[in-house]
Amino acid sequence: MAHNTSRIAIVYATAQGSTREIAAFIGDCLTARGATVEVADAEHAPDLSRFDVVILGSAVHNRALLPALTSYVDSHRDELLARDVWLFSVGIGPALRGPIGTFFGRAVPNQIRVVRDQAGAHAYRAFAGHYERAGVSLGARTMFRLLGGTRYGDLRDWPAIGTWATSIAML
Ligand SMILES: Cc1cc2nc3c(=O)[nH]c(=O)nc-3n(C[C@H](O)[C@H](O)[C@H](O)COP(=O)(O)O)c2cc1C
Repeated sequence: MAHNTSRIAIVYATAQGSTREIAAFIGDCLTARGATVEVADAEHAPDLSRFDVVILGSAVHNRALLPALTSYVDSHRDELLARDVWLFSVGIGPALRGPIGTFFGRAVPNQIRVVRDQAGAHAYRAFAGHYERAGVSLGARTMFRLLGGTRYGDLRDWPAIGTWATSIAML
């Protein structure tokens, strides 16, 4: 488990950068608590032999983690299973409101469940990310509204992310 002398690798996949910023923020929280942290994207991940704990994170596209993260998990399965692993995703789910939005926002997509289990993650947490109206198709915008999406833009909840990071540091 993580503790203040842990060596922690944070490995992420991003399309537009918001997951990278969340990974860096989690890294700062854990460094402030005394851990030795390295943050890298999945294509430049460090050798895991130097780490006790791995935090995996990815943006969600079409109810799935990005291919860079899923192939990383696939090709490092044994190393991950031998370590303490946590998984987070970044999408719109946690920002959805109302009964339908809350239901869909809490559901863990099948593909994410599979990756979580492959990596042997202790826990999986979904965070709200960054969702711009511009460039989103009319169909996707309508679906977003129907599912309880109320606003666009930067939906990240930094205090919630900090609390999650701290909970890992305290285990
Ligand atoms: C093409 C596309 C598909 C998306 N599909 C989903 C989805 O299925 N579920 C979800 O929760 N968020 C979805 N999102 C929202 C983003 O993943 C989210 O805004 C996230 O912050 C992006 O992270 P990034 O900046 O690290 O790429 C989608 C975004 C894009 C651009």
